[in-house]
Amino acid sequence: MALIDKHKIIETNATILFALSFFVVTIGGIVEIAPLFYLENTIEDVEGVRPYSPLELKGRDIYIREGCYVCHSQMIRPMRDEVERYGHYSLAAESQYDHPFQWGSKRTGPDLARVGGRYSDDWHVDHLINPQSVVPESVMPKYGFLLDKMVTDKHMDELMATHRTVGVPYTDEMIANASADFNVQIDPDGDYEGLLERYPGAQVRNFDGQPGISEMDALVAYLQMLGTLVDFSTFTPVASR
Ligand code: HEC
Repeated sequence: MALIDKHKIIETNATILFALSFFVVTIGGIVEIAPLFYLENTIEDVEGVRPYSPLELKGRDIYIREGCYVCHSQMIRPMRDEVERYGHYSLAAESQYDHPFQWGSKRTGPDLARVGGRYSDDWHVDHLINPQSVVPESVMPKYGFLLDKMVTDKHMDELMATHRTVGVPYTDEMIANASADFNVQIDPDGDYEGLLERYPGAQVRNFDGQPGISEMDALVAYLQMLGTLVDFSTFTPVASR
C-alpha cells in the first residue's frame, strides 16, 4: 500500500513525472543506440557484391539525372507478391555501394532491383527510345536522345575517388584504370581481362549496337547488371548475428 501511495506523488506532480520520464527514456535510448557505435559494420557482407564498374557508375549517374527513381523503386520487399513478381527480396548489401541509394518511394513503373538480364539490350534500347512501342499502355517518357549524347572517360577517376571518400572500396588500381576500364567495357574485341578481374561479372559488349559510347550504352550497362551480382541459387541468409 505504501508504495502505491508514493506513486501518487509522481502522478500528481508534473515536474517530477517529466524528470523521471526523461531519465527512463534516456537510459532506454542509450541502451538501443550505443551498441551501434561499436559495430564495425551493420551490413552483412554478401559474396558477389562489388563496386560499380566505371561504365555502370556512369549509367547510374544518368539514371539519377533523368529521375528514373521518381517512377521506379529498387527495393524488393520480402512479401510474397513482390518476391513472386520480381525475384529474391533485396539485401542491404546490394545497396551497399549506392551513394545515394536508389530504393525509391514510388512505383509508377515496376521495381528495377532485378531487371538485369530480364530483357535483351535491344529491348532496352527500343523501350528507352519509345516505351509505347513495346508496351503500348506505358506512361514512361521517351529517352531516345541518350543515343545521340556521347560520353567520355573524363573525370571518371575523380568520380570514383569521390565515391571512395564516402566509403566505396575503390582501390588505387581501380582508379588508375578508370579510363581504360570505362572504354573497354563496350569493346568485346578489346583487352578486358583487367576489367573482369577488378569487377567480376561485368558484362562486356556494345550495349546500344552503335559505334562510340553513348549515354544509352552506359544506362543499359547499368540496367543489365542490376540484381545480377548475388547468386541466389547458393545464397543462404544469416538468420542472426
Ligand atoms: C513517369 C514515370 C516513369 C519514369 C520517369 C521512368 N519510367 Fe520506366 N517505366 C514506367 C512505367 C509505367 C513502366 C511499365 C510500362 C513499360 O514497361 O513501359 C516502366 C518500365 C520500365 C522498365 C521495364 C521494367 C520491367 O520489369 O518490365 C525499365 C527497364 C524502365 N522502365 C527503365 C526506366 C529508366 C532507365 C528510366 C529513366 C531514364 C525510367 N524508366 C523512367 C514509368 C517511368
